[in-house]
Amino acid sequence: MRRRLGGSNRDVFAVGLGCMGLSWAYHDRSLDENAGVELIRRAIDLGVDHFDTADVYGPFTNEKLVGRAVRGRRERVVLATKCGLVLEDAATYRYGRGGSPAHIRDACEGSLKRLGVERIDLYYLHRIDPKVPVEESWGAMAELVAEGKVRWLGVSEAKVPELERISRIHPVTAVQSELSLWTRDYLQDVLPWCESHGTSFVAFAPLGRGFLTGAISAGARFEPEDFRSTLPRFRAEAVAENQTIVERIRAIAGRRGATSAQIALAWVLAQGDRVLAIPGTQRAEYLEQNVAAASLELTPDEFEELGALPAPVGARY
Ligand SMILES: NC(=O)c1ccc[n+]([C@@H]2O[C@H](COP(=O)([O-])OP(=O)(O)OC[C@H]3O[C@@H](n4cnc5c(N)ncnc54)[C@H](OP(=O)(O)O)[C@@H]3O)[C@@H](O)[C@H]2O)c1
Repeated sequence: MRRRLGGSNRDVFAVGLGCMGLSWAYHDRSLDENAGVELIRRAIDLGVDHFDTADVYGPFTNEKLVGRAVRGRRERVVLATKCGLVLEDAATYRYGRGGSPAHIRDACEGSLKRLGVERIDLYYLHRIDPKVPVEESWGAMAELVAEGKVRWLGVSEAKVPELERISRIHPVTAVQSELSLWTRDYLQDVLPWCESHGTSFVAFAPLGRGFLTGAISAGARFEPEDFRSTLPRFRAEAVAENQTIVERIRAIAGRRGATSAQIALAWVLAQGDRVLAIPGTQRAEYLEQNVAAASLELTPDEFEELGALPAPVGARY
């Protein structure tokens, strides 16, 4: 299943690879670099051609890994990276924002170097900086396009009024925001905005950071260095309560002879032609399952049943 990237003339496979978890956030935070490179190359062989990273993942190491993995295969892939989130404390995952034009220009130079490319395909503002008018941040990013350092622009977690403001300055090729069976907020307004503006909606954490796959049972505990230990939805009582969601996905998966992860991804992709998903994984087996999910079409009954799942306990951040 291939889908058009924003208003561009480029199609990508609907399931990309979110590379964050190869160096950051989950497990012990990182996989051996050679294993990460091998996984990305396996993804390319399977037809995946959209890879998502950010300067803050690592910080900085994930871009190097992705750059190394795509060397010699550059023309086959769309490389997406991000600026504008600045790590203030790695131990607690505390972030600040960096939306000033000077920061964005420096960040872009850094990303180009670490990725080892002359141009970034899709460059996102990772978060809007409340201290900087968004027009200034977006204007600086549009200059990067004019200079040939970036091909297309995207923004993460923006709301409709912000999208309206920035799209007057330069087209928004992609909005990257959380969308999954337990995070549906953006279906009401941002996805319709994307549809009417020819913008891709790139669904991040489409597997609910692993929860929707059924791998996280009641009683699971997260080490302090696992990012999920900071999220209300992953506190013990929420994990226990939210098993109802997992059980219902598992039942549908069982009937379809699919995995829960595949059902969760198929539901995200069924939200419309503008939607792309970027699940993350460290394992080739999961990667293969996620790629295969692009061919899994839910029946109207399954789609409805999934749409009626209860809202989760616990805020997402
Ligand atoms: N813009 C933003 O602010 C933002 C925020 C978060 C994420 N992102 C992007 O979105 C990407 C994906 O999000 P994410 O990695 O946070 O969450 P995710 O894709 O929802 O979930 C990743 C988790 O699911 C597990 N998994 C993957 N495929 C599986 C399968 N087939 N069966 C069972 N388990 C499976 C992975 O396990 P293993 O690791 O053990 O394989 C990992 O623990 C990131 O890599 C990043 O690029 C962006």
